[in-house]
Amino acid sequence: MANYKVCVVGGAGGIGQPLSLLMAMDPNVSELCVYDLTLAMVPAEGVAADLSHLNHKAVVKGYAFDKDDRAIDKAEECLTGCSLVLIPAGVPRKPGQDRKDLLNINAGIAKNIVEACAKFCPDAVVALIVNPVNSVVPAMCELWKKKGLNPKKIVGITTLDCVRAEKFVHEVTGQPVGGISIPVIGGHAGTTILPLFSQDAAGATIPADKVPDLDKKVQDAGTVVVAAKNGKGSATLSMAFAGARLGRAVLSGLAGTPVTECAYVESTITDLPYFASKVTFGKDGVETVHDLGPLSDYEKGRLEALKPVLKEEIAAGLEYAAANE
Ligand code: NAI
Repeated sequence: MANYKVCVVGGAGGIGQPLSLLMAMDPNVSELCVYDLTLAMVPAEGVAADLSHLNHKAVVKGYAFDKDDRAIDKAEECLTGCSLVLIPAGVPRKPGQDRKDLLNINAGIAKNIVEACAKFCPDAVVALIVNPVNSVVPAMCELWKKKGLNPKKIVGITTLDCVRAEKFVHEVTGQPVGGISIPVIGGHAGTTILPLFSQDAAGATIPADKVPDLDKKVQDAGTVVVAAKNGKGSATLSMAFAGARLGRAVLSGLAGTPVTECAYVESTITDLPYFASKVTFGKDGVETVHDLGPLSDYEKGRLEALKPVLKEEIAAGLEYAAANE
């Protein structure tokens, strides 16, 4: 097993706490930093003290900063030496808030952190959970490239879409859940989420007339959780589970055992510059961005329909990057 330092930014939040728990249990993690603001619900130092008692090898440390602190001024000790920085920091979308406002707030939070990563851990894989992923990832990747750093280190986490698609296929087909692997391509919001049921043995048995509903169920799964939590949060536990699956894959790749997962990254496999597809993580982060593979007619139609939507969301991220150099 390897010994990597990992930081969870927003680590005292709804996603951040269970994600920190799962990362502290990863045998490739020797040091885990829980990074949050002093105004977080629970102090980051408290989350770290709690996790430091797990009988796993990771040393866990907490860092809390004031809201107005710039990470680049404060987070040196926390970020230096990190191989992986997971970022579930950010605010959820409020009812009535438009996408652009959310993008400005959350991209601002991400920029503060990503700039600090560029300075203190420029070799780290920076994995973004903060929404809207479709726009925040292009914005942060452009920023990273302007600093002369490797864009293959910037990753948008879309694993929750795969986790959900796999669970729903298991429920419909009764096939063992461990053997189900559904690639989910495109982006990470609404219709840009495209599960490729046809590429999995169990998924491929789903009758064609049932596929559109199952596709929609994957797209709407986040909204279902928001409604069930009655305004008190969005998916946190399943997101942490999914984020840890991606985090484990990244660390395994760094340690020399490549792992393939879907992720939203800079891409040339379609005419869009950012796209979610199967990605193999290796010693330098993203090693291979895989082609889409064979699609059913339904999937082909959905792909063409999602492209203009995703294109606009990518453009919003690139606009943010250009306006906030
Ligand atoms: P939360 O509000 O429970 O936690 C966010 C944490 O980030 C808080 O502890 C807050 O103090 C911290 N934070 C805010 N600004 C920060 C900064 N500048 N530096 C460090 N920490 C900062 O929210 P939750 O539910 O954990 O969601 C976090 C983000 O993840 C949101 O943007 C949400 O939309 C997104 N999300 C993404 C999903 C995905 O599949 N990619 C799924 C669900 C949520």
